[in-house]
Amino acid sequence: MGSLEGKVALITGAARGQGRSHALALAAEGADIVAWDLPRSMSSLTYPLATQEDLDLTAKLVAERGRRCLSLSVDVSDSSQVNAGVERTLDQFGRLDIALANAGIVTIGPLVGVTDEAWDEMVATNLTGVFTTLRAVVPPMLRQRWGRIVVTASMGGRMGIKGQSAYNATKWGVIGLAKSLALEVANDGITVNIVCPCTVRTPMVQPDPDRAVPEESVRQLTRGNPIARPWIEADDVTRAVMYLVQDPGVLTGTIMDVSLGSSARMS
Ligand SMILES: NC(=O)c1ccc[n+]([C@@H]2O[C@H](COP(=O)([O-])OP(=O)(O)OC[C@H]3O[C@@H](n4cnc5c(N)ncnc54)[C@H](O)[C@@H]3O)[C@@H](O)[C@H]2O)c1
Repeated sequence: MGSLEGKVALITGAARGQGRSHALALAAEGADIVAWDLPRSMSSLTYPLATQEDLDLTAKLVAERGRRCLSLSVDVSDSSQVNAGVERTLDQFGRLDIALANAGIVTIGPLVGVTDEAWDEMVATNLTGVFTTLRAVVPPMLRQRWGRIVVTASMGGRMGIKGQSAYNATKWGVIGLAKSLALEVANDGITVNIVCPCTVRTPMVQPDPDRAVPEESVRQLTRGNPIARPWIEADDVTRAVMYLVQDPGVLTGTIMDVSLGSSARMS
């Protein structure tokens, strides 16, 4: 029997990348899965978001692991969609135990070139989207007096990075949101933790798996990491997430850097 048998886990941005990897690991441990994603484009992005086929594939892979999957098209920046998605979850499963606020987007470039549109879309998804998700999932967890919440920030939320000012602002923001919520629910059986990955090889970084990332980018990424590798894989982050959701309830308000050693340079 898996350690999460009988639990229901919601993952935002679950159609691909880290979100799908987390969904499959949770399912393998026995959790039923609620997979949200936004299968549409955003005008400020230079890479495509997930498709309906991606979301359907996540659901199929969860089912292959013997678990139920409710997959829904939910834009986390829209609180009415988020609230309706949590209601559908409770109607279908009667509970909600784990929530991973993972959905996010990125636009890179110097601050002076960041358009209003790029700023608005990033703040809406990466910051407002985590707020709407946490606000909606906490009430059922309070009723159950048990919950595990993990927010995906980034190493960009731990430091300044040239060319990432807008993205990093959203990621610093969600750390403050999650840590403050952790204090609010500390005695209610709910933990709230944060994972901060360095570069992860997902479609956000390599949109077309058949087209390699340019060698110069790989060299630059590798140079920046104490462990001389350009990136980590989605399942490297999943292991951190699984540790946090399986914790008996003593770890809260914690940031787990998954960073190829970058945190060794920070206090
Ligand atoms: N890939 C990296 O290098 C990296 C590094 C650090 C942190 N992160 C963060 O990790 C998280 C997961 O990213 P990933 O690497 O798996 O990238 P990804 O682009 O493969 O996955 C992100 C998912 O979120 C979905 N999404 C985007 N906007 C949404 C919205 N408004 N509502 C619902 N779903 C939405 C996308 O369709 C996609 O499926 C993000 O928060 C990202 O910022 C990524």
